[in-house]
Amino acid sequence: MAKKWTEEERGKLKAYREEGMTIEQIANKLDRSPDSIDHAVRRYKIPTSTPLTNKESKEQVEIVSNLEKLDDKYFEALKKKAKSTWSVKKTQVKASTGKKPFTTYLVMGDCHVPEHNMPAIKSILYMMDDIKFDGIVNVGDYMDFGSISHWNKTKKLTSEGMKLKQDYIVGNSILDEFDKRLPAGCDKHFMFGNHEDWYYQFIECNPMLEGMLHPTDELKLKERGYKVYETYNDIFRIGQLNFTHGIYTGMHYVKKHIDELKTNIIFGHLHSQRERYESSPAKELSIGGYALGCLCSMSPSYMKGRPNKWSNGFGIVYFYPNGDFEVRLIRIIRGRFIFDGKVYNGNK
Ligand SMILES: [Fe+2]
Ligand SMILES: [Fe+2]
Repeated sequence: MAKKWTEEERGKLKAYREEGMTIEQIANKLDRSPDSIDHAVRRYKIPTSTPLTNKESKEQVEIVSNLEKLDDKYFEALKKKAKSTWSVKKTQVKASTGKKPFTTYLVMGDCHVPEHNMPAIKSILYMMDDIKFDGIVNVGDYMDFGSISHWNKTKKLTSEGMKLKQDYIVGNSILDEFDKRLPAGCDKHFMFGNHEDWYYQFIECNPMLEGMLHPTDELKLKERGYKVYETYNDIFRIGQLNFTHGIYTGMHYVKKHIDELKTNIIFGHLHSQRERYESSPAKELSIGGYALGCLCSMSPSYMKGRPNKWSNGFGIVYFYPNGDFEVRLIRIIRGRFIFDGKVYNGNK
């Protein structure tokens, strides 16, 4: 069961942030997980040592309450402020020379911004300083959209303080960090999950806003060079591997995906990691199914502390020129993982 934050603890958290302590240092001090600290910093909007000035905060309130597109003059400044609780240094990766015998894709999903797990995401960003990915696939639920969820429609207390526009600013600030680390000409794919689908359900009830606040526009996905799959349950293919957000649930969800789709498939949605192989016609390769894990908080408020088998994680997929592929599922534990003999720690 997640521990509740008392007034006193929130005061301590604020003081530690103002001292410039890292998430991990505060976690040790308060005897909580880095994930829980990261979540509380965002939930209670704990500022760092550079709080907004009165003028800036007045301007921000004005901008956030204005239902226009994000491409206003304050956009860059707001993204910078959105990063006030985290920062990540970028190192330069040398471009590889010569023709490679395979291509490398980063496959990830279920960030659920603003319920994302920043240490988990940062650990991947650190790895991207060492690996130049030829492609990236985001399989959906990048945004959480609690602010427009039909589940929260009548829950005024739960949705208090949730601002769609602020969520988009945070979402953009994180996508910027990925873009900085992806090479020019990177093959980029972005799928909508059931949470992005809530946008369409919101427009269904508020048709006067049609054409506004669309995730593709507000996250600037086309400008960033993403091919966007805006239909929930869409499937696309690279080589011999298919990608989707995640269609089936239940105890044997990977088996179910393979049985129904009858092809190699990788997906998110279930927030847990699993790999499974099923029979194929004789003398052919067995069919693989892969569940990625998530990059969100392992205990978001709506779970109300219920136990779950979620794992933070992602996948690296290598494609041979003929379309054959190899999948490496990587589990992120408390914001860090080991890959290729190196620890990538997102708590720093
Ligand atoms: Fe999800
Ligand atoms: Fe989902």
